Amino acid sequence: MTKPQLENLLDDLSLDEKVGQLVQVTAALLGYESTITGPQEGLGLSEADQANIGSVLAASGAERLIKIQDAQMARQPHHIPVAFMCDVINGYETIFPIPLGLGATFDPSLAEAAARIAAVEAAAAGVDVTFSPMLDTVRDARWGRVMESPGEDPYLNSFIGVAMVRGYQGEDNDIGTQGHVASTVKHFAAYGAPDGGRDYDNVELSPRTLLEDYLPAYKAAVMSGARLVMSSFNTLDRIPSSGNKWLMKDVLRGEWGFKGVLISDYGAIEEMVNHGLGDCRQVAKRAMDVTMDIDMYSHAYNFYLKELVQSGEISLEQLDEAVMRVLELKNDLGLFENPYKDASVEREKEVILCREHREAACEIAKKSFVLLENDGTLPLSKSDGRIAFIGPYVDNHDIHGSWSHPRHPEASTSIKEAVLQAGIDAEFAIGSYVMDPDMPVRNEEPLPYDEAQALKWLDEAVEIAKHADTVVMCLGEHRDQSGECASRTELQIPHCQQKLLEQVASVNANIVIVLFSGRPLETKKITKYAKALLLVWFPGTEGGTAITDVLFGESEPGGRLPMTFPRTVAQEPIYYNHLNTGRPNPTGDNHVFVNSYMDESTLPQYPFGYGLTYTSFEYSPVAISGNRVSAVVTNTGSRTGTETVQLYIHDVAATVARPVKELKGFKKVTLEPGESRTVAFEIEEEMLEFYNIDMRYVAEPGEFEFFIGPDSSTQNKAECTAYCSTNH
Ligand code: GLC
Repeated sequence: MTKPQLENLLDDLSLDEKVGQLVQVTAALLGYESTITGPQEGLGLSEADQANIGSVLAASGAERLIKIQDAQMARQPHHIPVAFMCDVINGYETIFPIPLGLGATFDPSLAEAAARIAAVEAAAAGVDVTFSPMLDTVRDARWGRVMESPGEDPYLNSFIGVAMVRGYQGEDNDIGTQGHVASTVKHFAAYGAPDGGRDYDNVELSPRTLLEDYLPAYKAAVMSGARLVMSSFNTLDRIPSSGNKWLMKDVLRGEWGFKGVLISDYGAIEEMVNHGLGDCRQVAKRAMDVTMDIDMYSHAYNFYLKELVQSGEISLEQLDEAVMRVLELKNDLGLFENPYKDASVEREKEVILCREHREAACEIAKKSFVLLENDGTLPLSKSDGRIAFIGPYVDNHDIHGSWSHPRHPEASTSIKEAVLQAGIDAEFAIGSYVMDPDMPVRNEEPLPYDEAQALKWLDEAVEIAKHADTVVMCLGEHRDQSGECASRTELQIPHCQQKLLEQVASVNANIVIVLFSGRPLETKKITKYAKALLLVWFPGTEGGTAITDVLFGESEPGGRLPMTFPRTVAQEPIYYNHLNTGRPNPTGDNHVFVNSYMDESTLPQYPFGYGLTYTSFEYSPVAISGNRVSAVVTNTGSRTGTETVQLYIHDVAATVARPVKELKGFKKVTLEPGESRTVAFEIEEEMLEFYNIDMRYVAEPGEFEFFIGPDSSTQNKAECTAYCSTNH
């Protein structure tokens, strides 16, 4: 449709129809099957309400969505198509590593490739909009949704986020093109910093920390053309995001010029009643006043928006602007010309889980794995004598992460299947359940647990461990121990698995651990029994194949930590780009009158950016020439390897305290044994900019340190005085 045609349509709509365009419910509330992603109480929709619904949440499948679209258009008075919106977070049916694993690749092109494939499959299944990328900065591993973020660093998250938007929407952001879906930047803003790591909890950030560390990734993705933004559940400065005028009107729409659709998170508008901002009618008005366009799954707009407009408390102009943004989204998706867009049973069969997609999933998974410990035991050799694979992840297909709802989870490749496919002679034992009998997982119902079965599995595992030359323990969190509403006060593997590990270690000391996790975990209690520790996150559909390839050296683990690993949960939140304090403690040990704990180091177990390879690298001292900083990187090992060379800056003195390090560049370099290469970064003034004492975003002249190294703990640096173009 042309803009005038859209305007004519808008003018024709009744008040009820206009309100309906701003309401989103699950397919279940319209009488169809639906995935559950939030509380399920009914919303009291009348037949007429149902007919006017503008968008549908959490339904997919070409055949089903074509039927829903036909039914909805038939009863919508102007036959306006609904838009189908889903959480396609790390893949639709071909599942990729969880987003924290995508962050670990330090490779935006891989995040883009994963998003591209996810869009192709989801669009074939009738999905028009994905609620991705999630770009919340995350510094507290107690929060379960760290798995859904690229990590703790705003610079890395910005690159990953922009790449995912490009993957979903295409280079040209033409969301009407086949294989493209509209992307949604979420959760705006700073949902990843809840008090205590407790989901949905209050967020307390200084304005400068919010602007420097939490908003940049959202901004980069919005400025790259993302078509929707989703408001977050949390308060900021004691204001819930869905009612935050400064955040939504001044920053998002004002400064950033966002003209797309603002959608609430699930029920978040009505939840402002719980936050204490008034009754449902009042929060409906509050949300409209900050230009929230779509009310996802709440009574607010459906029950009160019509009367708010009739009473003049909400102007018809406000309503029409919101409805027009929704109509323009549908128009740009091409839904008025083809309400089904890509939905096609034939196309689903052609693209979903096709070989090309599976191969991509395997390659990306390998690049996400982080080798945390290795005494040289890895890579294994197929002639390494008798190998035993032990643990509840040995033959487990549920390796997709908590925000994946593949209709065919059995399509994934388990470790056992991959090992057998590779012709490797090995023995296998489950050894334990994934979860302890008393440990809750998100879906409340305790998982089945039979003590006799558990003991039988344990005995079988110890028995094969006794006769093995090498034991590969496949352990980790349950998929639902991370994700939404999965905050934990303990960051360890389930106790039954710890017991299995200790029992196996009592009969065999040659242990390699493969660790499945949606978050940083405490590792000291497991590495004490291991020669090597390979972190695989939740690797997705081809996880088993990728793990086997890396364990046996077909590929190297390519990941680096996108989030700091603590020594203990008590250190949380812990992150690398912290301030120096007035009493710095670079060694982390307990000293009197310095920044320290009495009973634990202040240093992490593994720092941001850390990861071992199957070879080794050395760095020359950092050289500075003009605005170019560089180091010579040498492969000092015996295998070809890829290093993720990282650039950090430190603004030594400024009008406010500055982080001890900030990531400002990363480059992958593949070197043959003995090969050296100069890796250089151009220092741009914008790398040095920050919110100064006057809250102006500027670079200040002065001393800077430039670090180039393998991770954020590097001390390989050079100093120089930077002069800035503008006088401040
Ligand atoms: C959930 C999540 C959000 C998701 C939405 C729709 O509560 O917070 O990330 O996109 O609801 O499922």
